Amino acid sequence: MAPVIRNDPDLSAHWMPFTANRQFKAAPRLLSSATGVFYRTVDGRDVLDGSAGLWCVNAGHGRSEISDAVARQLVELDYAPSFQMGHPKAFDFATRVAKLAPNGFNHVFFTNSGSESVDTALKIALGYHRARGEGQRTRLIGRERGYHGVGFGGTSVGGMVNNRRAYGALLPGVDHLPHTHNLAANAFSRGQPAVGAELADALSDLVALHGADTIAAVIVEPVAGSTGVLVPPLGYLQALRTICDKHGILLIFDEVITGFGRLGQPFATQYFGVLPDMIVTAKGITNGTVPMGAVIARDAVHDAFMKGSENIIEMFHGYTYSGHPVACAAGIATLDIYEREKLLTRASTLADVWADALHSLRDLPHVIDIRNIGLMGAIELASRPDAPGSRGYQAMVEAFNQGLYFRTSADVIALSPPLTVTAEHIDRIVAVLRVVLANLK
Ligand SMILES: Cc1ncc(COP(=O)(O)O)c(C=O)c1O
Repeated sequence: MAPVIRNDPDLSAHWMPFTANRQFKAAPRLLSSATGVFYRTVDGRDVLDGSAGLWCVNAGHGRSEISDAVARQLVELDYAPSFQMGHPKAFDFATRVAKLAPNGFNHVFFTNSGSESVDTALKIALGYHRARGEGQRTRLIGRERGYHGVGFGGTSVGGMVNNRRAYGALLPGVDHLPHTHNLAANAFSRGQPAVGAELADALSDLVALHGADTIAAVIVEPVAGSTGVLVPPLGYLQALRTICDKHGILLIFDEVITGFGRLGQPFATQYFGVLPDMIVTAKGITNGTVPMGAVIARDAVHDAFMKGSENIIEMFHGYTYSGHPVACAAGIATLDIYEREKLLTRASTLADVWADALHSLRDLPHVIDIRNIGLMGAIELASRPDAPGSRGYQAMVEAFNQGLYFRTSADVIALSPPLTVTAEHIDRIVAVLRVVLANLK
């Protein structure tokens, strides 16, 4: 029997996240189903998914391999306690995830989201230093325009003012590097911009200010996603690594967006050739189907905890749903698809087509920058002086009405389609954008 899809739910009870609730509920955008790279709306329109949901549906929608694995798992073992108890799939999945990471990243701590992965990595960093007799290293460094989720740790190291201002003092002892976005020097760069490696030197300034032996870790997104696809300048990530090494500071890459093939390698660390000490992941780990995240730790980080008496819990941290059997089943089925369809490297074969398509929009009204890397891209629009963000929002609504979904960050259109996208889909994305931007006031 075909499922009954309700297209007129009562909208009042659901307090929606990161949404203008009253505006949305006055003119809702409701999705009812999805296949491949298309959503279908409750009124039966196909909408191309230009942002892989929220940067997570890397293998496209409606993958029966995943739903079959989830259904089987629910019958076989619906839940298993994750403390002092285990089930084989959590170990199998950890091994599979570690195999995708660079050599020497052999340990995986499971969480249920990007936010939890970030907070887990920050706690691992503090615990690591303590285990090595450097417990005074408690300072955490993030970056302006960074997004690391919504836990108190991630909010503290994050650099988006609207996400922070309502929540008081947040974590103590946090500082921020400057962001790397420089339109004057780098507008319309293809791939990594030329100018800005020297911005990493701000970390040396923070070391001078606070003392190297007080700093536990630096966390950055290799490519900042949620603040509008900020691509790291050439040499910047290498410079951060060098300064961290010099001062014994851990480097954490938040790869919640860039992980699982977004740049044409399993992780951005491999794309940029810069090794962090921990890789933070979520989203694409299960193709967005079942909430899950993971922190992949370098051996030295993990091994620092594994000492002392064997009956002692090495890290007092974990979640009821860490390594949930259903999430692991979804994750294993997802990695099978990525492997079989070579999706983790597919972005590299499409990157030039993608770049050409996006940059063809350069001469449209209000466009002040276009940037791209792998299968990520952004079109930055000039803000209306009296209403920043309103032009981006209007572009999003118009595009949705014309069959294209994408995320916006203020006046930046952020694009990251499923890795299964074809050149024809890319043409369609650009065709809709061309019409929308040409008519935008
Ligand atoms: C880089 C980064 N870190 C962390 C998060 C938080 O992930 P979640 O929403 O799963 O908690 C996100 C979400 O977009 C992200 O982009």
